[in-house]
Amino acid sequence: MKGGYSHFMIKEIHEQPDALIETMRGRILLQTARRGSLSSLKEVDRSSESLRVLDSVRDLSLDSIRALGSGMSSDFDQAPCIKLGGLEDYVDNIMRSRRLIFIACGTSYHACLAARQLVEELTCVPVTLELASDLLDRQAPLFRDDTCVFVSQSGETADTLNALKYAKHKGALCLGITNTVGSSISRETDCGVHVNAGVEIGVASTKAYTCQILVIVMIALKLSEDSISKMPRRQEILRDLLNLPSMMKKVLEKESLIKELAKELASENSLLAFGRGYNYATAMELALKVKELSYMHSEGILAGELKHGPLALIDETMPAVVVATRDSLREKMWSTIQQLLARKGRLVLLVSKDDDEIIGHFSGNKNVRLIEVDTVCDCLQPVLNIVPFQLLSYHLTILRGYNVDQPRNLAKSVTVE
Ligand code: UD1
Ligand code: M6R
Repeated sequence: MKGGYSHFMIKEIHEQPDALIETMRGRILLQTARRGSLSSLKEVDRSSESLRVLDSVRDLSLDSIRALGSGMSSDFDQAPCIKLGGLEDYVDNIMRSRRLIFIACGTSYHACLAARQLVEELTCVPVTLELASDLLDRQAPLFRDDTCVFVSQSGETADTLNALKYAKHKGALCLGITNTVGSSISRETDCGVHVNAGVEIGVASTKAYTCQILVIVMIALKLSEDSISKMPRRQEILRDLLNLPSMMKKVLEKESLIKELAKELASENSLLAFGRGYNYATAMELALKVKELSYMHSEGILAGELKHGPLALIDETMPAVVVATRDSLREKMWSTIQQLLARKGRLVLLVSKDDDEIIGHFSGNKNVRLIEVDTVCDCLQPVLNIVPFQLLSYHLTILRGYNVDQPRNLAKSVTVE
């Protein structure tokens, strides 16, 4: 059952390139019609023979999918579009909503955090995030013109399910994003998208997280399909979506480097993680993985909050991870790195492979460890960026001698409040 791996968690981490493909399978359509207006694009959408559905991706190698992705450029003759069977009849309703409210717990909440900015950007509908328990504690106001999106790997989490019942009672449109077909949340939502990441057994959620982000990105692409002004941005994302599985594979090849890093950190008491923008979620998810598995204290911190308290924690004994891959916030992350180094922080920097400035500056510095990853479109970068830290939390846990698939006090499905 573990397919030659020693634990379910490490198997599921390594399954991610295939899981991403499964999540996209049958949902990315290659348009073979001639370049045309938006209305002809919609017509093409209706006529299945002019679309080549990317549902045979299983038979393609990762390299051929990558080639497919890089061949797309801005050529609309080969422009892919998104088909989400469960949402086709609901797009107009969702786009008419006053708010999109994402509701989830734990790692699933972090997936919403990672994708929120893109949903806001592409739909121009206000997006808020709610931890399910907090929404219920507050009995927060929900209205008939809200769309509530319930994200859950198991589809059985009690808090999320109770929030769904509450939202239905308030008359909101309820959309589910679940990895378990036939689960309570899948059945009780008005519409939704199955994640199709495959069964996840390890208590720590790994492949479900990266595939949940992918699903929310695909939903944002679907909802913004009619927007001409968003077309170039949508094309950029669609092209990189297809490159993601092979890029993910390359990150997984870094496991031996991450294992060495885990040896350096295994006896620490605490690990801080800083990120901002799309990668605030990466910092939060890293911290959750490290604490739930290795029982080491860990905190995910929004880098923009550094001077509002967390900076006081930094000295030469405090290890800190900084997610500083290339995007529009890179200069701000560079400044965070300088602030931490000025307080003698011991840093692990996640950087873009092509960021010669950061890599050149820190190579050889014994207080700084570098992990390099490929650069992908900013909204997809969190899908790659979490992988080294999933591996780190796995190896930290093994080195500290704990049960990686079944951490103490936790259950895979939290079916009680
Ligand atoms: C569906 C089939 C898939 C098939 C494809 C062919 C299922 C489960 N999926 O996938 O096997 O290959 O058509 O076109 O049979 N839903 C919710 N809440 C959720 C998740 C889903 O209500 O949380 C609903 C959707 O609105 C939809 C149905 O469940 O009505 C199936 O969703 P999904 O599997 O995502 O649809 P397809 O991708 O079209
Ligand atoms: O099944 P769900 O996605 O609803 O579960 C939510 C959380 O309980 C879950 O993500 C939890 O945080 C994981 N154990 C984290 O790895």
